[in-house]
Amino acid sequence: MNITFVGTGYVGLVSGVMMSYLGHNVTCIDLDSSKIVRLKKKEPTIYEDSLEKYLKMGVDSNRLHFVDSYDQNLKHSDAVFVTVGTPSLSDGSADLSNIFSCVGSVLKHLKDDCVIVIKSTVPPGTCNNVESFIKQKGYKNKVASNPEFLREGTAIHDFINTDRIIIGGNDELTFGIMKNIYAPLTKKGIQMLETDLSTSELIKYASNSFLANKIAFINELSDLCQEIGCNINHLSEGIGMDKRIGNSFLKPGPGFGGSCFPKDILALQKLAQGVSSKFLILDAIINSNNNRPANLTRKVIGLLGGDVKEKKIAVFGLTYKANTDDLRCSPAINLIKELLSFGAKVVAYDPQGMKNISRYKELIKKVECKTTPQKAARGSDAIIIATEWNEFKVLDYKKIKTLMKTPFIFDFRNVLDKQQIEEMGFEYHCIGSKKMGNKNG
Ligand code: UDX
Repeated sequence: MNITFVGTGYVGLVSGVMMSYLGHNVTCIDLDSSKIVRLKKKEPTIYEDSLEKYLKMGVDSNRLHFVDSYDQNLKHSDAVFVTVGTPSLSDGSADLSNIFSCVGSVLKHLKDDCVIVIKSTVPPGTCNNVESFIKQKGYKNKVASNPEFLREGTAIHDFINTDRIIIGGNDELTFGIMKNIYAPLTKKGIQMLETDLSTSELIKYASNSFLANKIAFINELSDLCQEIGCNINHLSEGIGMDKRIGNSFLKPGPGFGGSCFPKDILALQKLAQGVSSKFLILDAIINSNNNRPANLTRKVIGLLGGDVKEKKIAVFGLTYKANTDDLRCSPAINLIKELLSFGAKVVAYDPQGMKNISRYKELIKKVECKTTPQKAARGSDAIIIATEWNEFKVLDYKKIKTLMKTPFIFDFRNVLDKQQIEEMGFEYHCIGSKKMGNKNG
């Protein structure tokens, strides 16, 4: 089938590349011509495992094309996937202006039976509004909702091995086209759920909020473990063994971040408030997560003697999780801001994220980025592991200890072996450990 993607961010690029891998003819449009120039040269514009390989495969097979305008190709499209950003407005609601301007721009180029597929995350009701907008403009095209569930860092794997494909629509023609598009995956046994447009839209917000709820829950439990001396890692394992709960998204840490969870929960909260539905759990998740960097910083300060003024803290990891270069809503960045506000000197190292720190104007001059973890650790009073990069699990900490001024490690991702690290002479504190809750403990 002929498919067009509008927007080559994480979702649009990965989905476009992988749709071509499934055998479809794909055109990806982005008005940012500098991106298109690079993509045509088979150069990924984002850091994503295996993307380069599939991008090359698509372009070489002549099934994957990149253009920087709404051009001729659109008239052959069976489906146009809208994968543009829906950032949060200052009140937390989703900004949908990109969606409507993109739909408005493509309409005149499309054949009547081309389906417009909204893949961007949008509040329930948006697809119905897009359908009305199309009618008002005098066009006949139908709308489908097809939320994405790709995780950064494993997006290629997630596309091919997704747990489910959700399709929202109002008519059989739309479902028929969507079934044909996804046939290569459903034939492999991947389940597809057909529903109405609004329910499909809400499934995305509900899934992300539920996962964020699991993380906030385990983070709160880790605080409790600290106070009463229980082992959070065993606790997480123990409750995760119950199949009704499931063992994923139960790793305690410095809080969830990224471009989806924080934004989507705020948007769902805004939606609920708009219809006088209290949905109190959302308030608790947001508060719990927002307070996390400040609470952890307070504990670090307590354990470093009550003051970090002029103390040098080496932060290992800037990205919101491992295997991405994305710093958006990263808890590591919020931790750094907290540390700086207490007068600490912050030195950082991240395998992929450092190039993006320039987007945080308030941090560029204040955070010294180093090219290796050893250089960051040199002369430091403490190391904070803020992101769970594999690299940090296998460092020669014996050597690193000799470089540091005082041997403190705060492991906010619980990635190191406590016993081994303590045997090296470190004062080691991880999430959920009694020592983090009580400096005498
Ligand atoms: C998420 C959803 O998983 C995906 O389905 C959706 O489409 C986009 O948003 P992503 O933001 O890439 O994907 O990251 P994810 O792996 O879900 O992690 C989100 C955040 O939660 C990260 O900050 C991560 O560190 C944190 N997390 C995750 C935990 O703190 N503990 C966990 O057990 C899992």
